[in-house]
Amino acid sequence: MRARLAVLASGGGSNLHAIAEHARHLGERRAFDLVLVASDRPECGALQRAAAAGVEGAVVASRHAPEAQTMEDLLADRNVDLVALAGYLKLVPPAVTRRFAGRLLNVHPALLPAYGGAGMYGARVHRSVVAARAALSGPTVHFVDDVYDHGAAIAQWPVPVLPGDDEYTLAARVLRAEHLLYPRIIQLVAGGVIRQLPSGEVVTHHAAAPAVLPTMDPGLDDAVLALALDHALATAP
Ligand code: GRF
Repeated sequence: MRARLAVLASGGGSNLHAIAEHARHLGERRAFDLVLVASDRPECGALQRAAAAGVEGAVVASRHAPEAQTMEDLLADRNVDLVALAGYLKLVPPAVTRRFAGRLLNVHPALLPAYGGAGMYGARVHRSVVAARAALSGPTVHFVDDVYDHGAAIAQWPVPVLPGDDEYTLAARVLRAEHLLYPRIIQLVAGGVIRQLPSGEVVTHHAAAPAVLPTMDPGLDDAVLALALDHALATAP
């Protein structure tokens, strides 16, 4: 049985696109079906992408949309099994984090716990990394709990910060890594290969998580990086 996946997004939805494309690429091997895209922003690119892909899009109830369904009701109504945050900027209600404990994921564009927490999103994250002259940044995929960017890490993919980088060049490199990493982790969680135990610990069939993957070589093309990533995830840590 495939997991019924909902993606929550507030922005352009490039990760949503990567998830949908990966599912298409996996075909019958996919462990999830994307059944819902929900957003707090009616005009966001993610909802436009959902419409273009023929996936149901919905706005979550807020002060501006009091007539809409709450997130909890939306997810229950559509029988959602697994939720992936992809640039969702609101805190997820505790009722949802509790109900979806171990089934709610996020991707953050830095190596948590560094450069995370309330207010650390978008360009601010990358600006802080560049200002700190860090040698590495890169995405963290983690389970979500009640605190911003705090839940147990599943995988981190270090990406080099290069001389001359600014927040835009670094953001683009990290986003490229997100698009390769996040759909693969969703597939592994949907397929039960990666699980979170009630204790909060993250385990995989073959090894202990979290997995810190070998540093990305941005000079390689996406197909080569994807192969290297599949190998690393199958053998991590
Ligand atoms: C990504 O950088 C992700 O790490 C963060 O929000 C951004 C979403 O971008 N959580 P997009 O909307 O998927 O293009």
